[in-house]
Amino acid sequence: MYAPALLATWCSMLLAPVLGAVTWTATPFNPASVPLAVRTPYVSAWLPQGAGTALNAAWPTLWTGSILGWAGYVKVDGTTYNWLGAPTVSDASKATQKSLTFTSTQSVFVLTAGPVDLTITFLSPVETSDLVNQSLPFSYYAVSAAANDGKSHSVQIYTDISAEWVTGDNSLTANWTTTTGNIITHQVQLASQGSFSEINDHIQQGSAYHATLNTQGATWQTGEDAVVRAQFINNGKLANTADTNFRAVSDRWPVFALAHDLGTVTSATAPTVFVIGHVRDPAVQYITANNGRQNRSYFFWTRFSTVASAISTFINDYSNALARAKAFDAKVKADASKISSDYADIVALSIRQTLGACEITVSKTSSGAFNTSDVTTFMKEISSDGNTNTVDVIFPAWPLFLYTNPVIGKQLLLPLFEYQATGQYPNKWAVHDIGAHYPQAIGHNDGKDEAMQVEESGNMLIMTLSYVQKTGDIALLKQFFSLLDQWAQFLIEDSLIPAEQLSTDDFAGTLANQTNLAIKGIIGIKAMSQIASLVGDTTRANNYSSIAASYQTQWQNFALSSDKTHLTLAYGNSASWGLSYNLYADKLLKTNVFPQSIFDLQTNWYSSHANAFGVPLDTRHTYTKSDWEIWTAALVTSTSVRDTLISSVRKYAADGKSSQPLGDWYETTDGSVEGFRARPVVGGHLALLALQ
Ligand SMILES: *[C@@H]1O[C@H](CO)[C@@H](O)[C@H](O)[C@H]1NC(C)=O
Ligand SMILES: *[C@@H]1O[C@H](CO)[C@@H](O)[C@H](O)[C@H]1NC(C)=O
Ligand SMILES: *[C@@H]1O[C@H](CO)[C@@H](O)[C@H](O)[C@H]1NC(C)=O
Ligand SMILES: *[C@@H]1O[C@H](CO)[C@@H](O)[C@H](O)[C@H]1NC(C)=O
Ligand SMILES: *[C@@H]1O[C@H](CO)[C@@H](O)[C@H](O)[C@H]1NC(C)=O
Ligand SMILES: *[C@@H]1O[C@H](CO)[C@@H](O)[C@H](O)[C@H]1NC(C)=O
Repeated sequence: MYAPALLATWCSMLLAPVLGAVTWTATPFNPASVPLAVRTPYVSAWLPQGAGTALNAAWPTLWTGSILGWAGYVKVDGTTYNWLGAPTVSDASKATQKSLTFTSTQSVFVLTAGPVDLTITFLSPVETSDLVNQSLPFSYYAVSAAANDGKSHSVQIYTDISAEWVTGDNSLTANWTTTTGNIITHQVQLASQGSFSEINDHIQQGSAYHATLNTQGATWQTGEDAVVRAQFINNGKLANTADTNFRAVSDRWPVFALAHDLGTVTSATAPTVFVIGHVRDPAVQYITANNGRQNRSYFFWTRFSTVASAISTFINDYSNALARAKAFDAKVKADASKISSDYADIVALSIRQTLGACEITVSKTSSGAFNTSDVTTFMKEISSDGNTNTVDVIFPAWPLFLYTNPVIGKQLLLPLFEYQATGQYPNKWAVHDIGAHYPQAIGHNDGKDEAMQVEESGNMLIMTLSYVQKTGDIALLKQFFSLLDQWAQFLIEDSLIPAEQLSTDDFAGTLANQTNLAIKGIIGIKAMSQIASLVGDTTRANNYSSIAASYQTQWQNFALSSDKTHLTLAYGNSASWGLSYNLYADKLLKTNVFPQSIFDLQTNWYSSHANAFGVPLDTRHTYTKSDWEIWTAALVTSTSVRDTLISSVRKYAADGKSSQPLGDWYETTDGSVEGFRARPVVGGHLALLALQ
């Protein structure tokens, strides 16, 4: 599925704005794209960078690169400066970006607007310990102003969004309303919606929200972009009027604007908080027994009965949310810095991206009440094909869930288990995904999903056992024991001599006898042995354990190069090799299937086979995958080889050659990006944290 992605890359390069250079302080570095509001596949706003693009030098975009109208102005002593987006209304100059800092939850910009500095904090909460909080599809941004000359200044701030937030086709008609009270909230949606359907990766269902506290000096307006922005530039406030001429998104571009008069400013003001988000209900369509359909809603509805009450609680909680975010950022940074500061930098850029592909849902009972015993998480396979809960995309990201909250991991696996337990999936191996098009999770009853037989069967067993090891919760094993055993039996058939098939790295094509796939299969069999042991099936546990041990011994004869200096990519091809990242699972699960000598051998091989931007994925190409690079860093037995792998990924992520949200697939010779972007697999960058 990578040809369309490559085409998209090529097109966006042609359309990209002229990129500047980084003229500001970037901490820890200037990434390819800065996460602004990244909480769900549809609340996913980024600032594309290339060699450096200030907050007011381009429009924010969806992860795809399509523009999300989002503009900001500030008036200082009557002079207007633009600080967000690239609007072209006259009589405003550009503020100057001084700095950009990102952490695991925040991107913070400082821009100078004449005698005043603005600090803009984009906070996408990561609240994995409270699943209601995590399921809220909202993000904060907050603006604080301070004089930079020690004097007092009159300051007003302004922001707006366009209706590009609700569709991938700007010729469609939107409508909107504004409610005022303690909070001013703009709500905008398509006049004609499509349930569970996307255009150009934008959802065509639900509403975007833009809100702020209705404190003294707050004003609002809806209307044509040029008109509303000029109103602020000329008057320093908005007219509190609604444009009810509902029209196409691109017809005299309606915008949904908010403004605050901060009055006279000297030292830093308390932050003025805005909320941006997108809610749809139902959120996901899910397959039940007998090809039934179930609607699933965001889990936040179990605590909030209206969107307005959710927004109210969310916006009023900003200072606490910021404190929680800072504590989370500090913990992640401290844990990751035990490895290296380069490692901490990569992790900080990866967390929002992974969780921003996920949505936590709940079903309703026949009486319409929420069934809080039925909470599942869905993940969009962003950018590569848009599948729902792709097993080999959850798998690389798995370390993030182990580190933050393994229950979210279980919730991602549950729909896959439940669906296959209904017996509708005809193949004996584990399914690739639970739906071809997010946010539909309607299975593959024809069995024609993208087959990755050993890959997905091994992944399910490994993830399930690691969840149980982290939590002690064996209910999943009892409930789905026969499925797990079915997959293990498939691995017993097909993992010592794997038939020609795809691995997760499908862009490289099929291959028979893949050494790394066999590793996964053998660890999968051993995992099933431990699963059997946990439910008291000692006979099966002993049988599978001895099969795994025997396969491992035989595998060494097939898998080593003839001079025994490295593992091959495929049996019998001594000139071939690759990243044997599946050995990571043996360390993660502490299964000790493979001897230390294999880990040492691979470590030694990689020490002399790195290009400028890391070790290639395998000998078929010079590209690599950042997730597998870091998984490999977590399994090598030398600190210097580990650090080379980590620093290569850090160097690529900071090299200024891309404008896409962090792409996991890149070229090791020159650090250029291949066709993927914004994929949740970067959760795999937490592989070393999951071992701590
Ligand atoms: C979740 O958000 C609420 C505000 O809605 C806050 O009071 C609570 O502390 C948060 N929970 C956690 C565990 O952070
Ligand atoms: C906007 O369109 C929706 C359908 O998407 C409809 O339910 C709603 O009533 C409309 N709102 C207004 C203000 O026209
Ligand atoms: C599920 O949601 C869709 C879209 O809103 C709706 O058309 C359908 O009637 C709902 N089905 C059930 C069973 O509630
Ligand atoms: C609630 O969900 C659980 C788990 O899926 C299910 O077993 C139970 O039957 C559901 N309850 C109702 C009342 O639908
Ligand atoms: C796979 O490897 C086995 C063991 O070396 C060998 O017998 C078989 O011919 C190989 N299959 C292919 C398609 O290369
Ligand atoms: C071990 O498991 C394999 C695969 O399921 C099976 O064929 C074999 O009969 C089992 N052996 C024993 C001793 O149970």
